[in-house]
Amino acid sequence: MSVKEIFETMDYGPAPESAAEALAWLVDQGDRFGHFINGAFTKPGDGFESRNPATGEVLATLSQASQTDVDAAVDAARKAQPKWEGLGGAGRARYLYAVARLLQKHSRLFAVLESMDNGKPIRESRDIDIPLAQRHFYYHAGMAQLMESELPDAEALGVCGQIIPWNFPLLMLAWKIAPALAMGNTVVLKPAEYTSLTALLFADICIQAGLPKGVVNIVTGDGAVGEMIVGADVDKIAFTGSTSVGRRIREATAGSGKELTLELGGKSAYIVFDDADIDSAIEGLVDAIWFNQGQVCCAGSRLLVQEGIADRFHTKLRARMDGLRIGNPLDKCIDVGAVVDPVQLQTIKAMVESNTAGELYQAACDMPENGCYFPPTLITGLETSDPLMQEEIFGPVLVSSTFRTPGEAVELANNTRYGLAATVWTENVNLALDIAPKLVAGVVWVNATNLFDAAAGFGGVRESGFGREGGWEGLSAYTKSKGKTKPLAKVEAIAGEGAPVDPIDRTAKMYVGGKQARPDSGYSKPIYGKSGLLGHVGLANRKDVRNAVEAAAGAKGWAKATGHLRAQILYFIGENLSARADEFAHRIDAMTGKTTGAKEVETSIQRLFTAAAWADKYDGQVHGVPIRGVALAMKEPTGVIGALCADEAPLLGLVSVMAPAIAMGNRVVLAASEPYPLAATDFYQILETSDVPAGVVNILTGSHAELAKPLASHLNVDAVWSFSSSDVSAEIEKAAAGNLKRTWVNNATATDWSVDHSRKFLQAATEIKNIWVPYGE
Ligand code: NAI
Repeated sequence: MSVKEIFETMDYGPAPESAAEALAWLVDQGDRFGHFINGAFTKPGDGFESRNPATGEVLATLSQASQTDVDAAVDAARKAQPKWEGLGGAGRARYLYAVARLLQKHSRLFAVLESMDNGKPIRESRDIDIPLAQRHFYYHAGMAQLMESELPDAEALGVCGQIIPWNFPLLMLAWKIAPALAMGNTVVLKPAEYTSLTALLFADICIQAGLPKGVVNIVTGDGAVGEMIVGADVDKIAFTGSTSVGRRIREATAGSGKELTLELGGKSAYIVFDDADIDSAIEGLVDAIWFNQGQVCCAGSRLLVQEGIADRFHTKLRARMDGLRIGNPLDKCIDVGAVVDPVQLQTIKAMVESNTAGELYQAACDMPENGCYFPPTLITGLETSDPLMQEEIFGPVLVSSTFRTPGEAVELANNTRYGLAATVWTENVNLALDIAPKLVAGVVWVNATNLFDAAAGFGGVRESGFGREGGWEGLSAYTKSKGKTKPLAKVEAIAGEGAPVDPIDRTAKMYVGGKQARPDSGYSKPIYGKSGLLGHVGLANRKDVRNAVEAAAGAKGWAKATGHLRAQILYFIGENLSARADEFAHRIDAMTGKTTGAKEVETSIQRLFTAAAWADKYDGQVHGVPIRGVALAMKEPTGVIGALCADEAPLLGLVSVMAPAIAMGNRVVLAASEPYPLAATDFYQILETSDVPAGVVNILTGSHAELAKPLASHLNVDAVWSFSSSDVSAEIEKAAAGNLKRTWVNNATATDWSVDHSRKFLQAATEIKNIWVPYGE
């Protein structure tokens, strides 16, 4: 066909990219790979084949790492870490910059290899995966450069174990390795078993960049190797993959003190209002669900379209689907490539076949005869309860439902256990910006979809995991505060027996939903001081936890109160505490047998004032991202936070947790100091007189060991913190795996409450939602 004829018919002509260079590189490596440990490739061991999913051809043989390999990699990383951190930010920045340059230099080789290994169209690997991976290293070279000046209190965690999936092999590697190295950590990374080749090519880049030995180590293998890394002597695990494996890792690391970030699955809503630019919204959908064959954690896989335009929208969408070209990933004209592996293809097929609801439409496009291909698919007319509206398919399958009002759209969008991303299409900016804060998701795109950049943190809420990758917020996952930790011994109450100092029975109640509440158990315990019995407190049980969480969950309005109002109330609490300072100081001294009460009260008042000061100042950011728009990094409250308060500082421990949490719009369920609970039960009298709305602060008394599990396993609790001296960290983290709630536990290390940790608390009390909006040309 002549060029003129092609122009006339507008037919596609195949434009295949050559595989020669990538194949030559594989041959150069001997087609068999060992692991990359301590700066060199090990001898290939027993292993498995890595295939091209488009053709079934074997590309290389990879080694399955043994425990000895994993240990050697961790050992190399451990040895290399102090020197790497010691280079300083500017020193590390040079290496990261060199890596970015080399990725750029070899970008076509990476793109071709990625498409051959994963099956994604070359247009995507060439224009999205590889450039974004480069950008991540450039961006984090900058972060390394700025670390000392901008994060003066931060230091590296140490050795990070990183486990990544197969959908964006090099990009996920970049998301993990770049920030870790920038902050002075060393890494042991395991690529997914289906797609390890670009990680091994990256190892080659590390050699070319002269990266010091042991800073990056790459071991290959399946989930068993992942488990070995999780169990190894590492300081952090960073995981991206399925929610079920994420949950297992949460359980396995519980109580180990290992930091953990999880970037898991999603079922992200794609909401189209009736005033949307329909053609753009349809092109957006092509990117949302057929990009990377739908194997995208944040894929817009759940279409919600406003009823009035639904028929027209679906008709146009089907026509667009018919125009998609599916086939050879190396062909530059291809829209949809191959699914990563026959196993994944089978999973997709089985899920689609199991569905009997709605109406199924599959694109009338030419399907390749062989290879792992699945046609672009649309299932319309589903109800929100249908399994395919809830389950992540991770394939090119779009499910669709309709809504009538914006309120209904929000309700349907949020009706999922996930919370990774959401997309909103409307020409009405008021509507878009009204909806964006109501969507429970870590990322919201307005009139665009699947936009990523190193400057805008990515990550989810709910069962989509926790932690952010990218941006300033991503760095906290790879740093800790400077300073040594001290162990925390169990704090015991003063033992005693006998009659009350005061003849009137004083059994302090608990504080739930703005009211004083008797414990459901009907049991109480005596609290003694040096001078004798001081009073009794109730012993809360599971039911009291439930009531307190219900009260907290009901006080939703607090999240919407202005920062100014929250500040006013916090100041008022401080003022009222100040008026009764002596009484509180005596109470603390009486319970603890010490004379530190006055100081503790004074510091508590300061803490309240500090939180009040922050309430209207802990702002988000606007990220300049390299697209026609900006990303608004909004700080949203985490939700309902359950906390076991410090035993040793009965008032200050409680106030230090409560004040920043409520300053940010959270509601709290606080378990008072176990040995010295009376400061907390006195404190709610202050709350009662300070205009704190009912349910915003709830206070329970009793045994931390008994309250830990019900709090951590309650599905309406979004985060659990523990500063208790009881040994409950492991139990909390294990129970929190259920709905993957955020945890912050002390693992038996002491917190110096005299130091103001407000910033840490503010950070833990907020989730960043990045809202991408069009802006400028
Ligand atoms: P997966 O979660 O099993 O695999 C991801 C990574 O974790 C791989 O490197 C794997 O080797 C490793 N891994 C597996 N079991 C492990 C364990 N027990 N401990 C530590 N590491 C372990 O995902 P898989 O099986 O490849 O895909 C299954 C489903 O997971 C997909 O259909 C999709 O729904 C979801 N998925 C979600 C991803 C996301 O980005 N959200 C990415 C990949 C898969």
